[in-house]
Amino acid sequence: MNLTAEQIQENWNELMEYINEYISEPRKEKLLEFYSTYQERLALMPAAHKKEYHNAFPGGYVEHVLRVIRCALKQAELWESEGADMSTFTVEELVFSALNHDLGKMGSEDEDSYISQTDNWRREKLGEEYMFNTKVQFASVPDRGLFMLQSHNIPYTFNEMVAIQTHDGLYDKANEKYLMGYMVEQKPRTSLPFILHQADLMAARIEFEREWLPRLKENKQPLDAKKTNFTLGNKNTIQSKNKALGTIKSEGLKNMLDNL
Ligand SMILES: [Fe+2]
Repeated sequence: MNLTAEQIQENWNELMEYINEYISEPRKEKLLEFYSTYQERLALMPAAHKKEYHNAFPGGYVEHVLRVIRCALKQAELWESEGADMSTFTVEELVFSALNHDLGKMGSEDEDSYISQTDNWRREKLGEEYMFNTKVQFASVPDRGLFMLQSHNIPYTFNEMVAIQTHDGLYDKANEKYLMGYMVEQKPRTSLPFILHQADLMAARIEFEREWLPRLKENKQPLDAKKTNFTLGNKNTIQSKNKALGTIKSEGLKNMLDNL
């Protein structure tokens, strides 16, 4: 799946609207400043580096985050309707956690985690348009995301920290200490982590289905890379059709959009 430049711009605007609507001052201003600083990188990031995962295309990250926010708000209603104690967290905490749950995927201050694949064999045979940037030191996605927030003086609550940290649920063994405690005192005292995990799981599954089920139904080769991939383009073919993304300054990123 590919997004047009207009869709990428609309998704970005929608993301900013969630911050404006749900995040209170003083951190709203800090968050808007952070997202504005990294707009070019975040707006064009994929949500994953492999097509077998989910939303591995330019703009896939923001599209995924928006879906997680929507699913989290809907999941919260479902939990409430079944009797969950909603006084244990706020809607702001829910939206803040969903908004930033995968922020660690962006990489470091200066380097993207996912960069254009340089191995043509992997690109053509395996459909890998991205690869990990080895300049970025290892850290888990939640750890890196929380580090980025604190590096920019964006405070987060205890609830938000635990929710972001455990958003992968028990798919990440590191979360067992939070989610598999047998003592009552050790269990989370809010349903927020479970709601966020369900929202993320739901979003990623839907994104997987959208990408792969039609092809599996048609009995196509899952990795028919040449026919389905976008290209990241070459820097000598700058065009000016990305009016919707006039705020993007980087020529490399403009090229990427020209090839969508
Ligand atoms: Fe996610």
